[in-house]
Amino acid sequence: VAILLAWAALGYLLGSVPFGMVITRAMNLGNLREIGSGNIGATNVLRTGNKGAALATLLLDGAKGAVAVLIARLLAGEDAAQVAGLAAFIGHCWPVWLGFRGGKGVATFLGLMLALAWPVGLACCATWAAAFAIFRISSVGALAAAASSPLWVLILGPWRIFVLALLLTALVYLRHSANISRLRAGTEPKVGQKKAPES
Ligand code: G3P
Repeated sequence: VAILLAWAALGYLLGSVPFGMVITRAMNLGNLREIGSGNIGATNVLRTGNKGAALATLLLDGAKGAVAVLIARLLAGEDAAQVAGLAAFIGHCWPVWLGFRGGKGVATFLGLMLALAWPVGLACCATWAAAFAIFRISSVGALAAAASSPLWVLILGPWRIFVLALLLTALVYLRHSANISRLRAGTEPKVGQKKAPES
């Protein structure tokens, strides 16, 4: 148990690096908290108008989830890999450095899934893309990808990550509560449209 806790701590530290914040500050793109949804993720970085910064945020936020899983698996096996992946996700959503006000976990979720079970990760990315292609709303892609992940695990395996997939889905929905309210009210903007900051 002590060893799993150590992997949780390492995963959390990796996950808690807020790349969106780091990149936008380094490139002088403004304060993410005052832009769009106020979120630190790639979707909101895109609202600064800088596509390269958004892509870098997406890739780095994804990579930290994948790296946490891969290092833990290499050195300590599958259980540690799951713990480190979950911890990286939690680190992204509730980073100590930002007073626990982190992101919504979508890129990190996709990255850790790709590393844990790449067919499931790819299927989740495809689900994101399909939902986005239809609705042109980032959060709809995210909610569809998260909801599909336990189903993809059942279809593609390995079943040992089923509980983790369920847990991550629940956490992604929790982090998107403001988005879900806006979707219900019909006010969630499509990518490219402006939106008011969340409180
Ligand atoms: O990945 C986050 C996305 O699903 C929603 O982001 O900024 O539109 O709330 P945002």
